Amino acid sequence: MLCSIAENKLSYDLLQSKLEHDPNINQALANYAMFGGMEPFKKGIANMLEKYVFHCAANTVNTQHLCVGAGTTALLEGIFFALCDQGDSVIIPSPMYPAFVTDARVRAGVKVIPASLTDTAAAAEGKVAFKINVEELERAYQKGKDEGSPVKAVVLCSPNNPTGTVFSSDELNEVIAFCRKHNIHLISDEIYALSIFGEKPFVSVYELLDGKLGNDIHIVSGFSKDFCLNGYRAGYIYTQNAQLLRYLYKEYVFFQCSNPVQSVLANILNDDAFLGNFIQENQKRLKSHYALTLQLLKEQNIPYIDSDSGMYLLLDVRQLLKEQTFDAELPVWCELFKQSKVLVNSGKSTLGDVPGLFRFIFCHKEPQLRIAIQRLGKAYNNILATTSKSV
Ligand SMILES: Cc1ncc(COP(=O)(O)O)c(C=O)c1O
Repeated sequence: MLCSIAENKLSYDLLQSKLEHDPNINQALANYAMFGGMEPFKKGIANMLEKYVFHCAANTVNTQHLCVGAGTTALLEGIFFALCDQGDSVIIPSPMYPAFVTDARVRAGVKVIPASLTDTAAAAEGKVAFKINVEELERAYQKGKDEGSPVKAVVLCSPNNPTGTVFSSDELNEVIAFCRKHNIHLISDEIYALSIFGEKPFVSVYELLDGKLGNDIHIVSGFSKDFCLNGYRAGYIYTQNAQLLRYLYKEYVFFQCSNPVQSVLANILNDDAFLGNFIQENQKRLKSHYALTLQLLKEQNIPYIDSDSGMYLLLDVRQLLKEQTFDAELPVWCELFKQSKVLVNSGKSTLGDVPGLFRFIFCHKEPQLRIAIQRLGKAYNNILATTSKSV
């Protein structure tokens, strides 16, 4: 079972009628469309952002500040090409979404320098928690400098994948101050902005700065997570940097979002009643599924780290490690898969600094979720028994 890919399988039924019957499908969609996105789609994105993500007045999000694309991945790569030269670096708080590394490196040749999110005060008490650590950001910045790989940006995944952390306004302000001090960009990946199930409210950098992002702060997002549409390949950037937008509009030919996809999404985003109901119901389902996941993990005695957002949480399998190193993590990760046939993400793949934290995606239908946790529980407790015997 694949519990390592961030797909939300809980809410397709809510979207089905809109996805399967788009009244706006017509011959015009067969033609090439505007670079950067069709106006009804961009209008719909602006409408959704104003009401549910940026929490600002209607008609304040300028659609000219938006560029859409075939998924957030494609846009992120475009941004790396635009902001960095080959050999430059970006800082990414870690544990991180592993594909950031390939998005930056494979074609744009940009290096990723992790900056630990480990909450050192909690760690001193033997607990695992995550928060922005400016000293770590400074250390990462200096590392880039020392290695002749200047840092051009921080990529902040907010809310965070894979930890599920929702950052406070103070933490976001710290990151912004850090970027501005060093005159580098902030790319805020807010792809999980509407997948919140904890108590902490999500704050977009747009809301925090009252819409004044300037030339150095950019927001990327898409429809794979909050709208459960990974396969539709649709994302967008919101930026007030005219030069960056010009670059992306020129490059748009390489990452176009297809017209039928734009059309069907525009139809969802511009239907206020439908959109509001979908967002509310999806969050309700995430919340109750997360609660069920915790209950099932407790029944199996599998430790975990609390999450507030996304479609995942970290399983805490540190007790299975012979020593607290990533070398010791690898055989445990393999054995857990071998015995359970449930694939989760290793800690090492997320470039964190605490071995033994495995990301588990819980947004499967209830019968599959129950089977996955049952199998993980059996394997976890088997390995634990053998580990304790050999100590
Ligand atoms: C933080 C983050 N950004 C971007 C992506 C990729 O999104 P897309 O499917 O829009 O390319 C993911 C997918 O898991 C993600 O978790």
